[in-house]
Parts: sequence; structure tokens; C-alpha cells
Amino acid sequence: MKKMFIGNLKMNMTKGELIKYFNALKKYAKSSENTIGVAVPFPYLYLAQEQLKGTNILIGAQDVYFQESGAYTGEVSVGMLKDFGTDFCIVGHSERRNLFGENYDTINKKVTKLCKTGITPVMCIGETLKQRAERKQKYVVRGQLDSVFNNLAIKKIKKVIVAYEPVWAIGTGKNATPDQVQEIASYIKDYVVKKYGLSRKQICVLYGGSINETNCNDLLNLDDVDGGLIGGACLNAENFSKLFL
Ligand code: PGA
Repeated sequence: MKKMFIGNLKMNMTKGELIKYFNALKKYAKSSENTIGVAVPFPYLYLAQEQLKGTNILIGAQDVYFQESGAYTGEVSVGMLKDFGTDFCIVGHSERRNLFGENYDTINKKVTKLCKTGITPVMCIGETLKQRAERKQKYVVRGQLDSVFNNLAIKKIKKVIVAYEPVWAIGTGKNATPDQVQEIASYIKDYVVKKYGLSRKQICVLYGGSINETNCNDLLNLDDVDGGLIGGACLNAENFSKLFL
């Protein structure tokens, strides 16, 4: 079954490296039937638009601000993302929540803004290690979903991609087990179906957290997992390709 593979470059690579990366990725992606995307740092959206034109690789941003324009030094608007052909935008990544103090009120505003303009939000949710130890993972993801979905029309909820990323599994080399992933992915779908009246197929759930060549099949070929959000393992185009080919 066709799956989605989104690479998150985070704050890595400079222009020359990225050109080489795009060239290699284009070659590999051509023969994949899966959906492939790459979230690049803001300064390289223009480069991505230029280099990935006419390919089957979607262009993503790693964040956005919810205001249209104005005195918001350092921020980037949805309109600016649109200018560079951005297809999707990661919102609420745990690194933004933990390192930059982003909260669910802000995430809600960002997702809402993106939905209005046709850029697909990839909304990250997931529990911390402490929350899992206290068996609160379902409660936590439910709260994170509600804080955004309660304010969105059903037709907009359908457009949101949910990335389940347990915080303890990101960049740590400690991936969740297939059972843990399936349990929460299925919980997310059940919850959204029941509460917001969508069908299971209408809600796309990705898993993210230390996905690599070895664990990829086990973690992503699960009934309720529609693909993966990949950090470290996407930084080399050949390694990334081993996940989606
Ligand atoms: P990782 O990152 O694959 O390096 O754990 C995943 C992510 O941050 O989305």
C-alpha cells in the first residue's frame, strides 16, 4: 500500500550540500510509488522550488507564523510559504515545543491558518517519557488533538496530517515498538472517527521517532500507520531512499 515518507532536514545542510542532496533524491524518488516530501529550512525554500520542480517530491517548511504580516521579527507567514510552492508545513514539532516554548494555542492558530490557505499541516503530537511511564499517552494525545481539532471545521480536520511522535523517541535512537505505534495510531483514528465523524481513511497518521532502514518496515507497515516523519535517517538521500523504495 502506498505510504507517505516525509523527511525533516531540521537545521542541517548548506546550499551546496542541499543541491547535491536534491539531485540524488530526485533520482531515487522517481522510481518510488510512495508519496515523498522534504521539509527544508526557510532560506532554502526557493532552492527547493527551483530544484524540485516537475518532480514527485513535495516541498515542506518546518514551521510558520499564524499572522498574515506585520511587526513579527524573524517570523515567516503562510503567504511567504505559498510564494515558494510549499505543499506542507510541519507544526508543533516537539523540538519547537521544548526548545522554543511553543504551546497548543499557538499550534492551533498555525494549523487553522494553514488550512485556510491550502498548505497541508503536518501536526506533531506525542507524549514524553514521564507521561508514558505514568501510562498517560492516550490522555496526552487526546488533549493535543482536541486543542486543535475542537476549533476546526470537519472539512479542515480532513486536511491535517497527524504525526505521532513520542518525544522520547525523537533523535534518541530509541524507537517505539510496532505494538506501541499501532496502539496509538489506532487510538488516534478511533478517536477522530468517533468525535469528529470522519472515516478512518480520511485521517492520515504518520509515525516519527528514530525510524531507520532496519526498523522502517516494522514500524510503518502497520494497519493504522500511513507513513513516517523521518529526521536523522533522511539526511543522506541514499539512506532516505532505502525507506521509500
Ligand atoms: P528522528 O527525528 O528520526 O531523528 O528521530 C524525527 C523527527 O524529529 O521528526
